[in-house]
Amino acid sequence: MWKHAIEDAMMKIRNNVERFGDRFPHVSENGKYELNNNEDWTNGFWSGMLWLSYEYSGDEFYREAARRTVESFKRRMEQHIVLDHHDIGFLYTLSSQAQWIVERNEEAKQLTLQAADVLMRRWREKGEYIQAWGLPDNAQHGGRMIIDCLLNLPLLFWAYEQTGNERYREIAIKQADQSRRYLVRGDDSSYHTFVFNTETGEPLGGATHQGYTNGSTWARGQAWGVYGFTLAYRYTRNPLYLDTAKRMANYFLEQLPEDHVAYWDFNAPVDVNTYRDSSASAIVAAGLIELIGHLDDSDPDRAEYEEKLKLSMTSLVDNYSTIGEDDAEGLLKHGSYYVRGGVAPDDYMIWGDYYYLEALMRMDKGIKGYWYEL
Ligand code: GLY
Repeated sequence: MWKHAIEDAMMKIRNNVERFGDRFPHVSENGKYELNNNEDWTNGFWSGMLWLSYEYSGDEFYREAARRTVESFKRRMEQHIVLDHHDIGFLYTLSSQAQWIVERNEEAKQLTLQAADVLMRRWREKGEYIQAWGLPDNAQHGGRMIIDCLLNLPLLFWAYEQTGNERYREIAIKQADQSRRYLVRGDDSSYHTFVFNTETGEPLGGATHQGYTNGSTWARGQAWGVYGFTLAYRYTRNPLYLDTAKRMANYFLEQLPEDHVAYWDFNAPVDVNTYRDSSASAIVAAGLIELIGHLDDSDPDRAEYEEKLKLSMTSLVDNYSTIGEDDAEGLLKHGSYYVRGGVAPDDYMIWGDYYYLEALMRMDKGIKGYWYEL
C-alpha cells in the first residue's frame, strides 16, 4: 500500500518538475499550486521532496532537479531574499543540508552553515527567544516566539555538530526550553506564539497567528511541537523533551475525529463545514515514526503510537491523497494554511505533501529525511 502511494506521488512530482520549471510551489488555489521564485518560507519542502525522490529511486532526473533548487537557495542567500524570519531551517535543512547528506557536497555544507548563522541572528537576549518574524524593531512581531520554530532548531544542532561551536547548541537548547515553558500549556495543548516585552524581556502572554483564538490549540502548531521536541530529544537526549513530545502527541491523538485526520484547530466548533488540516496529520505521522524509534518495546505508549500512525496514514492515503487523479499537482488534499484569514483553507500545502512523502518513505524503505545525520 505505501509503495503504491509513493509511486503515485513520484509520478506527480515528475510531472510537476516539468510544469513548474525553476519555480517553487507554495499552496494551491482551485487545485493549482501558486508558484514563486524562491521567496517564501515554504520553498525547502519542494527541494526536500526532490531529494527524497532521488534517494528512493536513484533516478538522476530527481537529483538534477534537486540540485537546481539548491543553486536557487545559494542565490537567495547571496542576495538575502526574504530571510528575515525564523523559517531558515525549513529552507536550508531540506535543500542544501539534504544535498550535503546525500552527496557530501562541500559547497552545500558551507551554504547550510551560513544559513545557521542567519538564524542565530534572530536570538533575542532579553526574553531569550528566537524572534519569529521581521527585524527587532518590528512593531507587531518584535517580541514574538513561535512553536513552528522547533523544526528550525535541527539546523542549529547540526551546525554545532559540524563546527564544534557550542553557541549553536546553546541557543537551540534555550529556545526548546523556552518553548516548553511558554508555548506548551499544563494540559499538554499549546499556544501558537508567545509575546515578550522587547525592552525588558518580560513574558506577556500567549497569542495565536493562524489559530482560532489566542487560547485555542491550532492543530499544526501542536504538530510542530510533536516532531520538534522529538528532534530536540534526538540531538540532546534530554528526557524532558521526549516527555513533552509524548504529551503533545497524546493530546493531538486524543482530539482526532473518526477518520483520524485533524481539524484545523482543536477548539474550532465542528460541523460539516469545519476545515481539516491534513498537513498537521502528515507532520505528526512523520514525527510519530521518529518518536517510536526512541521508545523501548516496553514503553506503554509505543504500541498505541504504532496503531495510531497506521490508522492516520491509511486515512491520508485512502481519503485525502490524490491517488487516481493523475493530473493533480498536489499529493494531499484538505490542508489549511490560514483559515481565519481566508488563505488556502482547503487546499494543497507543499509542506503537507512533503511530510506525507517523508512518512511514506520512512515506513517503506527507512529513508529518514534530512533533519539529522546518522
Ligand atoms: N510555519 C507556518 C505554518 O505552519 O503555517
